[in-house]
Amino acid sequence: MRMLEGEKVTKYFGGLAAVLQVDFYVEQGEIFGLIGPNGAGKTTLFNLISGAFTPKSGVIKFKGEKISGLKPYKICRMGMARTFQEVKIFANVPAVQNVALGALFGAPKSVSTAEATKEAEELLDFVGFAVPKNIPAGGLTLANQKRVEIARALATKADMLLLDEVMAGLTPTETAEAMELVKRIRDRGVTVFLIEHVMRAIMGVCDRIMVLHHGEKIADGTPKEISTSKKVIEVYLGE
Ligand SMILES: Nc1ncnc2c1ncn2[C@@H]1O[C@H](COP(=O)(O)OP(=O)(O)O)[C@@H](O)[C@H]1O
Ligand SMILES: [Mg+2]
Repeated sequence: MRMLEGEKVTKYFGGLAAVLQVDFYVEQGEIFGLIGPNGAGKTTLFNLISGAFTPKSGVIKFKGEKISGLKPYKICRMGMARTFQEVKIFANVPAVQNVALGALFGAPKSVSTAEATKEAEELLDFVGFAVPKNIPAGGLTLANQKRVEIARALATKADMLLLDEVMAGLTPTETAEAMELVKRIRDRGVTVFLIEHVMRAIMGVCDRIMVLHHGEKIADGTPKEISTSKKVIEVYLGE
């Protein structure tokens, strides 16, 4: 089944085509990667999918239903959650409560605070959060802040996750852990759509990859096809 599908998706900022006529699809259960140089339009595409922006033209469908133009909270309740390139968590709020917010406000069914807290603790364990869960999120390492954000997204009971550069700024060990986590998230039954700036980081984890450059799709295919594509290599060498 196609979990997510976009047809000729387009978004302008003034005269700049940040995303231009982009076609894509993500199958249920896939790990799908989106790569491209800085400014390629990757985050803008996530903003279009998650409802932060409305496309100027084109259609986005989630589980067969048109979502382009819907409010972000509606799309979230349909089962899609995201993380942000610049981590967005409440710095003064304990890690566990940051995660519980996802269960309290993002999930389709309402839960009690106690249930949300219990679930948040389990999810923090799942994402490999290995420090006390009541530490205010602002005092955590970047890797742990990203874990909190991923756990919060999972707490919404999403069956599709959009991850925007979850590996950026991490050490090589943390990056390897993040890739393992992405695989475990998929093994839970969650479809993953992953943005990365650095191509190498996601070659080993994605089933398929799409490449954006100046807002346009220049390639899509298996990691092997992408890494040997002349067009893609040129774009990355030219950066
Ligand atoms: N809110 C915005 N207003 C104006 N221009 C934007 C906005 N967001 C992104 N852009 C521009 O759109 C282009 C694509 O940006 P972005 O999607 O953030 O790229 P990427 O995530 O691939 O680095 C860039 O030229 C960027 O400057
Ligand atoms: Mg970006």
